[in-house]
Amino acid sequence: MKTLLVVEVSPRLELSVSRNLTTRFVEQWKKGNPHGVVVVRDLFKSHIPFVDLHWIGGAFTPREQHSPESAAAIKVSDDLVAEIKSADHILIGTPMYNFSIPAILKAYIDQIVRSGVTVSTAYEGMLKGKKATVILSTGGDFSPGAPFASTNMASNYLRQVLGFIGISDVNIILAVRTLAVDQGHQPLRDYVTELDGEILSAAAA
Ligand SMILES: Cc1cc2nc3c(=O)[nH]c(=O)nc-3n(C[C@H](O)[C@H](O)[C@H](O)COP(=O)(O)O)c2cc1C
Repeated sequence: MKTLLVVEVSPRLELSVSRNLTTRFVEQWKKGNPHGVVVVRDLFKSHIPFVDLHWIGGAFTPREQHSPESAAAIKVSDDLVAEIKSADHILIGTPMYNFSIPAILKAYIDQIVRSGVTVSTAYEGMLKGKKATVILSTGGDFSPGAPFASTNMASNYLRQVLGFIGISDVNIILAVRTLAVDQGHQPLRDYVTELDGEILSAAAA
């Protein structure tokens, strides 16, 4: 039985391009995995804390030395790590914000990248045997060859950090020029349909 972990990021809920595309992905994934489990980690609703001194103290000292504050900070991380560890496929649906990823996704990443837990002390990723699909929605055009393609920091960063924790099988689907949807030039439903081929084949992989 396979488990799909869906990490949602956009605050725009039903208006969100990335969320509409992850929904399509999940529908198709369920068809191919009728007994599969889908776990949703909605970062917009999870209020994941930033790394602070208590977290750092907890992450780099033995558990028996943890203050109550460090124990609580590390429990957040432990729970998120357990969730991603139990998944076979991780689907991240995220907007591009300011050429990179939204802060709430970075906060999540900072919780799950842990020395000795998801990355060995020899810098070997410990989450092996998983695959990830990233659906990255962008207002502008970051397609390969587009004039601003090289300013897309989100794709490289996500590939890098997922690889760092051992997830090297990463498929990034670019949902570009969503401005056309937001400005009312293209209905959201049509936009989602245009990407259907790519989404469905990623979900079937
Ligand atoms: C705070 C903010 C920053 C953004 N930064 C960029 C950007 O750097 N490049 C870009 O192409 N689009 C940018 N956008 C547009 C979003 O990436 C685009 O609207 C995307 O489709 C939003 O995803 P969603 O529909 O799933 O919420 C930004 C939007 C917001 C709200």
